[in-house]
Amino acid sequence: MKILALVFAARREEKSATLRMTNELCGMIGRRCPDAAFEVLTMSELPVQACVGCKSCFLEGFCPQDGEDGMAELRRKVKDCDALIAATPVYMCSVSGWCKNFLDRCARWCHVFELLGKPCLVLSVTAVSGSERAAAYLSECLEVMGCAVAARLPLQRQGDGLVIGGEKARAAMESAADSLLDAVGHPEQYLSELAEGQFQSLRQSYRALETFRTLTGQSCPDEVNTFRRRGLMGCASLREALRQKGRAEA
Ligand SMILES: Cc1cc2nc3c(=O)[nH]c(=O)nc-3n(C[C@H](O)[C@H](O)[C@H](O)COP(=O)(O)O)c2cc1C
Repeated sequence: MKILALVFAARREEKSATLRMTNELCGMIGRRCPDAAFEVLTMSELPVQACVGCKSCFLEGFCPQDGEDGMAELRRKVKDCDALIAATPVYMCSVSGWCKNFLDRCARWCHVFELLGKPCLVLSVTAVSGSERAAAYLSECLEVMGCAVAARLPLQRQGDGLVIGGEKARAAMESAADSLLDAVGHPEQYLSELAEGQFQSLRQSYRALETFRTLTGQSCPDEVNTFRRRGLMGCASLREALRQKGRAEA
């Protein structure tokens, strides 16, 4: 099983509490699942430029910036892994800019449920406050891409020390490791209400757009065609779409 951890911290190795906690979490998962293979990527390995807002991803199905930075490779790795850990430090009450750049560049994925059923864990690390907010935001972004977010881990580091102490935090990490492995076997149980709502409203508006564009002899944006090609238009719920995906991959 391939587990990819994306660490959106600007600080390097030994200084970053986010990286340190991610490594600890990987250790906990590894003890439960000895054949898991981990890849931990940090920002120095993930050069991701800010989105320029051209909307080519929605309309044409590709990002013209992908050839200019590490994003194409990153997309491949995210799609390819069996489970994903997304970890961010708290910057200005939210996720880091690195993390936001990554999310913006993945905006199309929210419109076509690119990561449907991908088991995920979300981790955020703060000095003082904002950890819950950052974890909730990051989690919701992944949920609307279709991810099965098994747990959110909002953590607070202690003073200038790197170790986030306390039995409570450690117990939450151990429990999150269990949940992630559970989500690998049962992703349908971790699809969120938020994602279901997004699915229903996209399906409705894409259908209306398709009808209008057909009547007026115009083609549809790539995201609408992809939604239909993936069979999502005919599914009554995101759960049904996941079951259909499972059958197609079996
Ligand atoms: C630009 C910047 C903004 C920050 N904003 C906040 C904040 O809003 N709230 C907070 O409690 N800590 C804030 N911090 C502190 C970081 O969350 C904290 O140092 C965290 O450990 C950084 O992650 P790292 O150790 O992986 O580098 C900020 C740090 C930086 C560099």
